[in-house]
Amino acid sequence: MTDSWAAFGADLHIEPVGAGLRSGLMNALREAVRTGRLAPGTRLPSSRTLAADLGVARNTVADAYAELVAEGWLTARQGSGTRVARRAAAAPAAGARSRPVRRRPAHNLMPGSPDVSSFPRAEWLKAARRALTAAPDAAFGYDDPRGRVELRTALADYLARARGVYADPERIVVCSGFVDGLALMGKVLRRHGVRAAAVESYGLDIHWNLLVEAGLSTPCLPVDAHGARTGELGGAAGVGAVLLTPAHQFPTGVPLHPGRRAAAVDWARSSGGLILEDDYDGEFRYDRQPVGALQGLDPERVVYLGTASKSLAPGLRLAWMVLPEALVDEVCDAKGGREWMSATPDQLTLAEFIRSGAYDRHVRAMRLRYRRRRDQLVDALAERAPDFRVSGIAAGLHAVLELPEGTEQSVVQAATWQGLALERLARFRHRDAEPGRDGLVIGYGTPSDSGWAGALDALCRVLP
Ligand SMILES: Cc1ncc(COP(=O)(O)O)c(C=O)c1O
Repeated sequence: MTDSWAAFGADLHIEPVGAGLRSGLMNALREAVRTGRLAPGTRLPSSRTLAADLGVARNTVADAYAELVAEGWLTARQGSGTRVARRAAAAPAAGARSRPVRRRPAHNLMPGSPDVSSFPRAEWLKAARRALTAAPDAAFGYDDPRGRVELRTALADYLARARGVYADPERIVVCSGFVDGLALMGKVLRRHGVRAAAVESYGLDIHWNLLVEAGLSTPCLPVDAHGARTGELGGAAGVGAVLLTPAHQFPTGVPLHPGRRAAAVDWARSSGGLILEDDYDGEFRYDRQPVGALQGLDPERVVYLGTASKSLAPGLRLAWMVLPEALVDEVCDAKGGREWMSATPDQLTLAEFIRSGAYDRHVRAMRLRYRRRRDQLVDALAERAPDFRVSGIAAGLHAVLELPEGTEQSVVQAATWQGLALERLARFRHRDAEPGRDGLVIGYGTPSDSGWAGALDALCRVLP
């Protein structure tokens, strides 16, 4: 019985409709019955068991069951528990597969996205008009595999000024998001005979998987309060590269300690290894000047990867690599010798957007807005959930909320039933990493301004 229930939960992406727990649960149950995922006659878990699984009050489940009995979806009999009514489900047509229903959560606190409702549409359109009017015909053909020179020039100025990157347009290669750049680097590393690229013990599995797909293994470096323990790179046999998030470790939020930065560079110099620097949200630092890029310490041993996904919008799929000089041709070769991935009109628009100062203005305005959200998050938790510690708040668009041991799963489930999407810390732990603390990774960049207060309120309500 427990097994059949276990198959019917957040893992099957059943998400409640609406904000209330009880009505969310009722909607999800109706949907499961309607689509045949809960077959007629199936016995449901007791309200006590389900309430414990979901981390909600028993009465919430009991009330939802009672209403669904009254509506005819379920039956309840002394001794045989609560079951799906025999006539409740419209049987799916023969051969039809019941697909899990994905609904948008009412509140989205998933990390990974900025507030896309703040995309500077008017300024972007103005930049596009200016850029396309001035563009030579050649800009609309198959182009230089490094990307448009206008964008590489604008990026070189910006990255040197704002991120301390040693940047020359000749060694910049535009790519279609960080993921594209990482996949290209995976290919190049394998062509160099590298077999392993170390990664941080917390990060994104999609990134690790890209390296694995390129034929590399991904041993992990433990992450602590000073970032990744880069001093351990020397002892890791066969490692030819390391992927780091130095400005703001993802997702724990700590900057890489100066000693650890130096250790990474020392390792790269002495072993001939390469550092892949993921500077995904380096612009958003709130307590002081942004931490400069590691690449400035040794541009011939560090590949700097930046992206417009946090500063502007992930949908643009625009990112850039600043490469050691010796790697530029190889990366262009891995790209296929042509610009096939990033649309040149968008590259020209971004170039103009940066050149005109609109990028700086946008980043400054968003920094203020995210900082305000970060403060509101910290204040709300201090007032309504003072026992919970928030960390990783000095920068970026997400924070880590530490939870009492053993509660991570149930809090996320309760959040799902509240229509609140968030991610647990364990989701970002490398499979070879030591077990770590329980926590939530809260993306405060994602909600629109109008949805922010409701999301914050929902978060405070689901904490144990
Ligand atoms: C750690 C990290 N690196 C890089 C990126 C950016 O990826 P992309 O440029 O492919 O959108 C993200 C986006 O969520 C991220 O979280």
